[in-house]
Amino acid sequence: RWSLCIQSMRCFHILTCDDVLTEIAVGQGTINFKVNRTLLAENVMNEVTKKGSSYGLSSELFNDYPRGRIIVEFSSPNIAKRFHAGHLRSTIIGNFIANLKHALGNEVIRMNYLGDWGMQFGLLGAGFQQFGSEEKLKSKPLEHLFDVYVQVNKMAESDENIKLAAQEFFRKLEAGDKSTLAFWERIRCISIEEYANIYQRLGVHFDEFSGESVYQKRSHDFLRLLEKKGLLKKTKQGTGVVDLSPNGDLSIYATVVRSDGTSLYLTRDIAAAVDRMEKYNFEKMIYVTDKGQHTHFQQVFQTLKIMGYDWAERCQHIPFGVVQGMKTRKGDVIFLEDILNEARSRMLKNMSASKTTKELEDPADTAEKVGIAALIIQDFKGPLLSDYDFDWDRVLQSQGDTGVFLQYTHARLCSIQRTYENGPQAQFNPASLQDPQAITLLQHLLRFDEVLYKASKDLQPKHLVNYLLMLSRLVSIAHRTLHVKGSLPEVAQARFLLFKATCSVLANGMKLLGITPVEKM
Ligand code: ARG
Repeated sequence: RWSLCIQSMRCFHILTCDDVLTEIAVGQGTINFKVNRTLLAENVMNEVTKKGSSYGLSSELFNDYPRGRIIVEFSSPNIAKRFHAGHLRSTIIGNFIANLKHALGNEVIRMNYLGDWGMQFGLLGAGFQQFGSEEKLKSKPLEHLFDVYVQVNKMAESDENIKLAAQEFFRKLEAGDKSTLAFWERIRCISIEEYANIYQRLGVHFDEFSGESVYQKRSHDFLRLLEKKGLLKKTKQGTGVVDLSPNGDLSIYATVVRSDGTSLYLTRDIAAAVDRMEKYNFEKMIYVTDKGQHTHFQQVFQTLKIMGYDWAERCQHIPFGVVQGMKTRKGDVIFLEDILNEARSRMLKNMSASKTTKELEDPADTAEKVGIAALIIQDFKGPLLSDYDFDWDRVLQSQGDTGVFLQYTHARLCSIQRTYENGPQAQFNPASLQDPQAITLLQHLLRFDEVLYKASKDLQPKHLVNYLLMLSRLVSIAHRTLHVKGSLPEVAQARFLLFKATCSVLANGMKLLGITPVEKM
């Protein structure tokens, strides 16, 4: 045993060898540490086995982590309108954030804020009266509503009567006319039901389907409050604004009411935030949308602050970039279902070349899970703010940095477990895990908590994705050289357990990302 005394920044540190550090040596401009590798193997394997799905999450890194109630608002499509790639991004990113927060011990409320109010319902109502079909509404609701909406939109461009009918329909809706409201309510319910089915395929659920309609009325209360506080300014054009400029010269402002007295997207969002605070007293609220709405959310938060709601600081917008070129065989993406179907059918075709596919009980289900993993990994690899070009062939590659590779690795690790069931029946001896491939893998497993910690700080899934891709690469290298079959029982057992532990960490990580790991493929 010996010590090393080093000086840095006018401090002296004494480094002493102990059970963990077995050797400290000075190199050229470096200090080299040697870690006790048996202890490394013993500790990592113990921890992973003992902690199971909470491995990494119960690390001391999270001792000061705030575990209060969190609202994550995500997905939020617009009824009757197109569900575009941006909504898919919001759905999977929001789901990841909600999963992570839940795993870290927060009470999470998953909220979907539907675009369920506005002139589009006027058009839809007027259109449905003309060419709506009850039958189609039953069999293919989302498609039918979208068709009606597109058709009526086109007609309204040239037909004044349609325009007037739409305005009249919306006016009646805003005035609370019974039968108009009943139509709207029915469309909303049918749409939510449909969405919920498709979200289920994606493994996503919501605790609350809220929407702009809920805050239509309440935004008027909010406007009155603004007026009472003397914060509502009228412009020459007759719109109502809130001054957000530092000098009070209206150089920056947010428009909260139109000249005809109707509310705006912004007004409804402010009313919604206040209501959610009253209802849930959240510690944090996170909105997930494309970066195009960044200014919108800054205006929401600033207005709340000016009104004296200090909790505005607890609200956060997580913006993401644009996906270009997401198309299916049918053409542009209109429905979430189309993307999922396309991923499934393409994956099924790719899998049909492999002989193991024939042994699958439900190949379509496996293809769906693998296809979704591929979509998620492609989306989560880089910083959320980056734009990217979508390419099915690249997304579904079986090798390289893809979700297919992760699923494949997981399935292979499961197959090792199936082959040996309870393992080769010997005592676990950490001294049997001293090959370099095993050590590198163990060191990587040890770092899982750091990666989760980073993700919890900036809410970027890329840390976890890159970690899992590296884990998969390392385990496939290890698998090539560290044979279980044909090794002495003690060695075989240690390797078997190492693969089992890796499988468990890989599965935990994939689940956090919103992926359902497959056991065979
Ligand atoms: N429905 C909106 C859209 O499709 C997204 C809603 C985002 N959330 C919010 N609170 N404004 O663009």
